[in-house]
Amino acid sequence: MGATASSGMWKTGESAQEQGLGYVPDAYQVPLRDRPSLFPDTATVPLIDLGGLWKDAVQRSLVIKDIANACCRFGFFQIVNHGICQTVMDEALQAASSFFDSPTDEKMKYMSNDVHKPVRYATSFKDGVDKTQSWRVFLKHYAHPLEHWMGQWPENPPRYREKMGRFCAQARKVTVDLMEAITEGLGLGPSYLTSKMEAGMQVMAVNCYPPCPNPEVALGLPPHCDYTCLTVVLQSSPGLQIMDLDDCTWKSVPKIPGALQVHVGDHLEVLSNGLYKSVYHRAVLNSERTRFSIASLHSLGLDETMEPAEELVGAQGKKYRGSSFRDFLNFLATNDLGEHKSFIDSLKINQ
Ligand code: OGA
Ligand code: NI
Repeated sequence: MGATASSGMWKTGESAQEQGLGYVPDAYQVPLRDRPSLFPDTATVPLIDLGGLWKDAVQRSLVIKDIANACCRFGFFQIVNHGICQTVMDEALQAASSFFDSPTDEKMKYMSNDVHKPVRYATSFKDGVDKTQSWRVFLKHYAHPLEHWMGQWPENPPRYREKMGRFCAQARKVTVDLMEAITEGLGLGPSYLTSKMEAGMQVMAVNCYPPCPNPEVALGLPPHCDYTCLTVVLQSSPGLQIMDLDDCTWKSVPKIPGALQVHVGDHLEVLSNGLYKSVYHRAVLNSERTRFSIASLHSLGLDETMEPAEELVGAQGKKYRGSSFRDFLNFLATNDLGEHKSFIDSLKINQ
């Protein structure tokens, strides 16, 4: 009997994490080399005050430089003064929490394993298929343009659409501002991607990690890079870890009140021709309380190809081939990302 057959027992609706099992079944136990340390080092990731982006040119250029350094060194940073008010963030987390508290039947209306579906509820990474199950429950939904997708989001809890919608719109605005700062920092000018981002995708990954009775043997999310240009994440409590490229160890990301996390995604690595790194990250668990995170994933249009910018290619030539969001969905549908298969590696030329 293969691992797939045993993980089939834990499909969405009946998973260990939804049932609140008091032990971690074998199908969830990650191989020894991938188990999280109980005492990880803390990442010394930059905390960037975005306030300066809208002040004078000197302050703007300082912030842009800080962002550029963070994208090079970590592919990751945290932001404050981002313009999203605390109430909007709190209410989005509340809406997420109430959704996951709904009766199973209600949530199962949205259950799907088809990664191309614009709204879907599922567990693990790819329910029923992952070799090792992840202790996660999630709702994913498209969010841009809001008026196009919102009608397909869950009707219950009653204010889910309103509260989540407000956060989506504001997260989108921050992302557009950040992308402008990033392309400006790359020497491509602030509007290099603006219109393509405007016509692009925003996918929300609303994650719930119930308490895990044995958090050192399982993971909430296996190590992965995000297939995006940029991901902006709001979390209810700590649990995110990133791979430190300098010493190749996992470091935990400190929780800073009011801050959001920003991940460089695969497509920004491609655009920069490898100058910026798509951050390798994972979510760890705890035995005490449920953790929620809301990841706002931003990319270009479904069939829009991202290529290294000509201006950044230089003598070494293009290090990545072009790809679209649809190419990633097709990759996701046929590969187990929990098994260290990464989309960005599949794009690398001559390596
Ligand atoms: C994701 C993700 C991290 C977290 O949804 O892609 O990496 O902290 N989430 O839940
Ligand atoms: Ni991620």
